[in-house]
Amino acid sequence: MGMADDLLTALLLARTDRPVLAAPAMNDAMYANPATTANITALTQRGWQFIGPDVGALAEGPSERPGRMSEPEAIFAAAERLLGDPHKSKWSGKRVVVTAGPTREHLDPVRVITNPSSGRMGYALAAAAQQRGADVLLITGPTELSPPPGLATTHVETTEEMQRALQSVVTTADALIMSAAPADYRPKSPAAKKRTRANGPLTVELEATPDILGSLKRPKRIIVVGFALETGNGLANARSKMQNKALDFVILNDATEPGAGFEVTTNRVTILGRNGTQVDLPLLPKRDVAERILDVVEEAL
Ligand code: CTP
Repeated sequence: MGMADDLLTALLLARTDRPVLAAPAMNDAMYANPATTANITALTQRGWQFIGPDVGALAEGPSERPGRMSEPEAIFAAAERLLGDPHKSKWSGKRVVVTAGPTREHLDPVRVITNPSSGRMGYALAAAAQQRGADVLLITGPTELSPPPGLATTHVETTEEMQRALQSVVTTADALIMSAAPADYRPKSPAAKKRTRANGPLTVELEATPDILGSLKRPKRIIVVGFALETGNGLANARSKMQNKALDFVILNDATEPGAGFEVTTNRVTILGRNGTQVDLPLLPKRDVAERILDVVEEAL
């Protein structure tokens, strides 16, 4: 990454209005370097699409961090999707709503209850669905991420705001991917003014926020994908969430497993289907996990 790539981008963008696909192959430390991250962000803003890098063995030995070039089959499939006629795609004209990130609930105007969700999984899903030609709306809680260029985005703060934003669009959606991690509790009586520390210990009574998926009024034909972030008993909990929340698919990940869940760029998930299917994916960058989830949804569309 660097000047050579800038020059290459300029040449490629000058020669074609087609998007450019890059499959970075490097070393895990090099990939994690802030200079690489900044260059990838700049190239993404110029329209480059990235596949991988994957997590796996490198030339110099094993690694548990992204750095390995994606498999040629995956690069080829991504190139095919990118260059293919979007009107022929199964996603063309499909309305896909993706939720992402945490929500937060105020104790007072300056203090909140939230969780460490980064929003990366949801943003990756929204970008991947947009790239496949879907008409995507991203509904996001507060995150550090910038939505992909050109993506319709609604910003919300609380679980109830996310519920309202989603309810107003879900009736016309073909698929809902609920990757947000909404706050499950909120203070029963948030204070209108900042509380001072000098007042001593504070006891806050919390009440449950609405269960968005559980309470959503949705059309019968919509495909709904939920997430289950568990810390044990994962398969059983995920299956009962699929049942209770009437989901078509549930994406199970284990919060205690290194490299999976919140705050990391990778994820290891199991995709469970309503009809009893189970796909165990290896540890992958979240963008690649997103593609695999969309492959499963695509079959059901
Ligand atoms: N979810 C939701 N509304 C909430 C909380 C979660 O719709 N208030 C969604 C999440 O986006 C996810 C799925 O429900 O797709 C499962 O989330 P999870 O937090 O695992 O489930 P909960 O029903 O909150 O159960 P738990 O008691 O295990 O937290």
